[in-house]
Amino acid sequence: MDAMVQSSAAPNPWPGCDGFAHHLLEGLRKTPKEIACKFFYDSEGSALFEAICALPEYYQTRTEVALLRRHAGEIASLIGPGAQIVEFGAGALRKIRILLDALASPAAYVPIDISGAYLRDVVRLLAADYPALSLSPVIADFTLPLTLPPFLPSGSGRRVGFFPGSTIGNFRPPAALALLRRMREHLGGGGLLIGVDLVKDPALLHAAYNDSAGVTAAFNKNLLARANRELGAGFDLDAFAHYAPYDLHNRRIEMYLVSAKRQSIQLAGETIHFAAGEAVHTEDSQKYSIECFREMAVRAGFSPRAVWTDENRLFSLHWLES
Ligand code: AVI
Repeated sequence: MDAMVQSSAAPNPWPGCDGFAHHLLEGLRKTPKEIACKFFYDSEGSALFEAICALPEYYQTRTEVALLRRHAGEIASLIGPGAQIVEFGAGALRKIRILLDALASPAAYVPIDISGAYLRDVVRLLAADYPALSLSPVIADFTLPLTLPPFLPSGSGRRVGFFPGSTIGNFRPPAALALLRRMREHLGGGGLLIGVDLVKDPALLHAAYNDSAGVTAAFNKNLLARANRELGAGFDLDAFAHYAPYDLHNRRIEMYLVSAKRQSIQLAGETIHFAAGEAVHTEDSQKYSIECFREMAVRAGFSPRAVWTDENRLFSLHWLES
C-alpha cells in the first residue's frame, strides 16, 4: 500500500455518473423534462452535498450519525464477529468507521463506488487505520447488475450490506424494492444495515430542502453549471429557480429547476426550448414510515429484526436479515 494520502474527494452517495452529455440531451428532449439526480455528484456537486449535510436544516446526516454512535454496541452484537461488509455507494468514511470501530474483528470491507479516485482514497485511508481488514474496492454502479469479489470462506462472519444516508429514498418505491432484492441476492444469507428518512412535519422537510443559505439551490443548479463546464451549454443560472415542494400524497420531496422565462440553449448542436415556468425534474426524496419501509423490506425477502430512531422520529436505521 502506498503512503497514506489525505482524501480531498467528497463522497458520492449516488454512483453511476458517466454519460452525462447523452443523458442530459435525452432528458431535456422529454416532456416533462428531467435530469437524473445521479448527475449531481461531480466534484463541485459532491462538495455542495457535503455542505448540505452540515446545514442546520438538514437533520438527516447528524441524526443518522448520532443513531449509529448511540447504538453501535447493539448493532455490533446483532452483526456478530468477523463481519464482511459491503457498502453500496461508499459514502462518508465517518459512518463506516463508527461501524468498524464497534464490530468485533471485522474481516472484510468492500466499498462500491463508480469513482475510482474516490475509492483509492477510501482504501488508503482505511488501510492505515485498520491493518487487519481485507479491503476489496469495487468500481461499479451498484444500481446495475454487478459482480462482487468472492466472500471469505464459510465459517467466517456474516455478510453485511451497509447503505446509510437514505439514498434508498432517491429511488421511486418500485425501483427501491428491486434494488433491495438485488442487495439481498448479493448478501446471500447476510443482513443489511440501512438508513431511511422518515415521514414528518412537512415544514421540517420543506426547510431541509429549501435551506436559508441557498446551498440546496446551488446543489440543484450545479446540474446546469456542470453542463456549462463540461459541455459548454451556456445555461444562465439566474434564469432558473430552485423549486422543492413536499408532495403530501406521495410522501416525497420533489426537486425541480424552473425556467424563469421563455428561453433556449444550445446543447451538442441542438436547440432546447424552455417555456416560461417550465420545470425540469431533478430529484425525488421519498420519505417512509417505519412500518411502510419494513413492509417493503419483507417484500424484498428480508426479515426486519431491529429499528432505531431518534426521540423526534426524524430518521430511522434498520437492521434487516435475510
Ligand atoms: C443523497 N440523498 C439521500 C439526499 C436526499 O436528501 O435525498 C440528496 C439531497 N438532495 C437535496 N438535498 C440532499
